[in-house]
Amino acid sequence: MSSVAIVYFSAQGHTHQLAEAVAEGARSVPGTIVELIRIVGEDITAGRWNNPAALAKLNAADAIVFGTPTYMGGPSAQLKAFIDAASEVWSKLGWKDKIAAAFTHSLGLSGDKLNTLQALWVNAMQHGMVWVGLGTPVEGTGLD
Ligand SMILES: Cc1cc2nc3c(=O)[nH]c(=O)nc-3n(C[C@H](O)[C@H](O)[C@H](O)COP(=O)(O)O)c2cc1C
Repeated sequence: MSSVAIVYFSAQGHTHQLAEAVAEGARSVPGTIVELIRIVGEDITAGRWNNPAALAKLNAADAIVFGTPTYMGGPSAQLKAFIDAASEVWSKLGWKDKIAAAFTHSLGLSGDKLNTLQALWVNAMQHGMVWVGLGTPVEGTGLD
């Protein structure tokens, strides 16, 4: 049995749809338990994210997938508040060797999404997580 936690922020629902799609894909693998954890503004007080129940689910997961809209070329402040609060986990290397991946959504076709994904990748590397990419060929190359 493997567990995948998808932690994400979404204001208008687009990133939420992506989170649901990631969950559907993970659930299609037999023996996989999926937790969807949505970051909400109510969990952020004086700029600090705090939700011990959600953190416990993340600590128990084998894999964590991070999701956020791209805001001004980077992760949303709401997801960043969660990431910064999780520095307490980082200080004990509590997520070391967990699988990590990420997704983002933006208005623009590019929208500077690459920078958001790189920020999430750097966060995962700081935790000592193991980043997993799509592993699919680029569309239109004839290799897909
Ligand atoms: C504060 C703010 C900053 C944004 N910055 C960008 C941006 O840099 N690039 C872009 O393409 N879209 C940007 N957008 C648009 C959002 O990425 C887009 O609406 C996204 O679908 C929102 O995701 P959500 O529906 O999950 O909330 C921004 C939106 C907001 C509210």
